[in-house]
Amino acid sequence: MPSVFIKTYGCQMNERDSEAVAAQLVAKGYSLAKSEAAADVVLLNTCSVRDFAEQKAINKMKNVVGTARSEKRNQIVGFLGCMAQSRGRELIDKLPDVDLVLGTQKFHRAAEYLDELLAGKRKKIVDIETEAKSEATIREHLLNGSAKTSVSAFVSIMQGCNQHCTFCIVPATRGEERSRTIPDIVAECRELVARGVREITLLGQIVTSFGKRDYHELAGKSAFVQLLDAVHEIDGLERIRFTSPHPKGYGDDLVEAYARLPKLCESAHLPLQSGSDRILKLMHRGYTREKFLGIVEKLRRAKPGIGITTDIIAGFPGETEEDFELTLSLCHEAQFDNAYIFKYSQRRDTPAADMADQVPQAIREERNHRLLELVNEIAGRKYDGFIGRQVEILVEGPSKKNAARYTGRTRCNRIVLFDGSARHQGQLMDVKIERTGSFTLYGDPAILE
Ligand code: SAH
Ligand code: F3S
Repeated sequence: MPSVFIKTYGCQMNERDSEAVAAQLVAKGYSLAKSEAAADVVLLNTCSVRDFAEQKAINKMKNVVGTARSEKRNQIVGFLGCMAQSRGRELIDKLPDVDLVLGTQKFHRAAEYLDELLAGKRKKIVDIETEAKSEATIREHLLNGSAKTSVSAFVSIMQGCNQHCTFCIVPATRGEERSRTIPDIVAECRELVARGVREITLLGQIVTSFGKRDYHELAGKSAFVQLLDAVHEIDGLERIRFTSPHPKGYGDDLVEAYARLPKLCESAHLPLQSGSDRILKLMHRGYTREKFLGIVEKLRRAKPGIGITTDIIAGFPGETEEDFELTLSLCHEAQFDNAYIFKYSQRRDTPAADMADQVPQAIREERNHRLLELVNEIAGRKYDGFIGRQVEILVEGPSKKNAARYTGRTRCNRIVLFDGSARHQGQLMDVKIERTGSFTLYGDPAILE
């Protein structure tokens, strides 16, 4: 039977899609190769959010086909996901050795297409059509794939985004918002819990818009909060997380859910993008600085100790030094627990790409750097604040870097390393934090045993 190697770029949605494709192929008799060199099929699941991510996947593909050709190996190679969706056949024009280009609504066809290519029935396949109900096709799980996924699993609840932020390519690559039904999602979660999963992360490009068109508000609760309530009912499930929400989705019902639902972990990723109202408007974000800070405050009041993380773009078109300083001052005020900083990257067919006043690269770099220094300093102080504290972690398994150490996560989503063993795997346990490293806490369980 053929073997397949899948490499994933980008976000957790992509990780989840790759896992579902792998599970689909394994169910059809494929094996998973340990490296691309050993595989009959190499698939790159791509990201288009920034140009850098696209270039990485293109260079990787050049490398793969170059090696296969020089070693006279007959490999089937393909691009999946967001870049496949946005570039389509152009990818084969550019890299003629590529056999398959499979878009974001077609992951469930991967096995069928690979069978045809391997059997020589077809030479090239490009499928980037939209497909009704494709949001419900990402169902298969590979729970024994890695230690991490056996206690913690991702469940896709929706696809697409209708927010159309002016910098973002996601609405083009992932399409219109389409949500699965609550019973369908709950059934998948129940099945996972029955197989030993204790933590579920609900995934979507804008999860707070889940089910908007399909469900009415019920007793002031949005469809998303109704879904949280339903998942919360599952016996044996210990922790619920979700990503990515949109700040405008943090109504009182969701804020209140943090206080009301004990399984909902006290962690929120609140993508800010900019601290300047003028830039937020140009970005089409749908909130102001004041509104954003209000949400942070409400969340901290509802759930003290909540971990709040964010995404920020440096150098959006038209961003002046004054706008940028507003972003810095917001970071001082919000005190994020962690922040992902991105240099603005012009994306094809997005409104911001054609805006006047594109910020010179050197300034984007410089602002990126200044912002990083600030957010890392704030985050570092927050990490240090954990020293001496006792925290509950869910143990995921041995650390990838050092097998003698085990790794777990706090409820507020911080990684904790400790000297553990196989018996800790999958356990919820308390550890005392002894010291901190770069975005890591080091804990000692012994004291408490
Ligand atoms: N809600 C989505 C956002 C996807 S993009 C999700 O997380 O699933 C993730 C982050 O990438 C965004 O929050 C934004 O900060 C950044 N980003 C998106 N488009 C970008 C661009 N054109 N240039 C730089 N950063 C960008
Ligand atoms: Fe992109 Fe904005 Fe949606 S960042 S994914 S268009 S909320």
